[in-house]
Amino acid sequence: MGYVHGYSDYEAGRLRNSAHALSGLIHAQVRYPEGALVLEAPCGVGAQTEFLVGNNPGTRFVCADISEASVRVAMGQNPGLPFLAGDLYALPFPNATFDHVFACYVLEHLERPGRALENLLRVLKPGGTLTSVEGDHGSCFFYPETPEALAAWACLPELQALLGGDSLIGRRMYSVLAGAGFSDVWVEPIRIYCDPSLPRMMKGFVEDTIVGMLRGIESEVIERGMLDPAVFRKGVEDILAITTHPEGAFCYTFFRAVGSAPDR
Ligand SMILES: C[S@@+](CC[C@H](N)C(=O)[O-])C[C@H]1O[C@@H](n2cnc3c(N)ncnc32)[C@H](O)[C@@H]1O
Repeated sequence: MGYVHGYSDYEAGRLRNSAHALSGLIHAQVRYPEGALVLEAPCGVGAQTEFLVGNNPGTRFVCADISEASVRVAMGQNPGLPFLAGDLYALPFPNATFDHVFACYVLEHLERPGRALENLLRVLKPGGTLTSVEGDHGSCFFYPETPEALAAWACLPELQALLGGDSLIGRRMYSVLAGAGFSDVWVEPIRIYCDPSLPRMMKGFVEDTIVGMLRGIESEVIERGMLDPAVFRKGVEDILAITTHPEGAFCYTFFRAVGSAPDR
């Protein structure tokens, strides 16, 4: 199965822009004790890594991603940290290696998110925590809302489902973590809201993150015949236009779930 966003330079830039725009919200409560050993998986191009490291001085991080190319980019961005190639379905670490795990924007792309979580649980020490952040594309609404914008946006969850993922996984986080064996699971919605008084969020979230994701799938949507190309492009432009519309508004919800590794 494919990975919907791919590994272009454009996507690497989108991940970085998005991480910067949302860092205050996504990392708000992600704090680890000094000396703890934390796995960031997947790390992608290291976009979240700088915030994890910056917010947690004294914590030791190990960062892994299935894409060796992304790992190389991440290394360049965060010199001195241990990065390695690693598949969430076959993590190259002994049982009970880490005090905590941070996993951001990945379960939505996996055919077997529960299996990946079981593997993350395996490498956690008893009492350690997993923090998992996922979006939910069904949580999105905006103004103005044109038929073309709705049709273009609908292509993203549809394509992800065709590739074996579930872009609506955010709303299932409690049961997905609990089903994988985590205890004391706690889920918090993180609401993103943009209006004309928040031009930086309009740029960083709507333009760089949402429109960026849509531009990244344009060729695949067209190749697969999912939507008329002119309709798709107008829809993307309509969403972009929200960022400067005097009455524009955009809402989206991420979900941050924390679960503990039970005593074995
Ligand atoms: C949307 S990116 C998120 C990266 C990073 N967490 C961030 O927020 O910038 C999803 C990442 O998941 C990685 N990925 C997908 N399947 C994976 C797997 N089975 N094991 C490890 N990483 C995987 C991809 O290579 C990609 O880097």
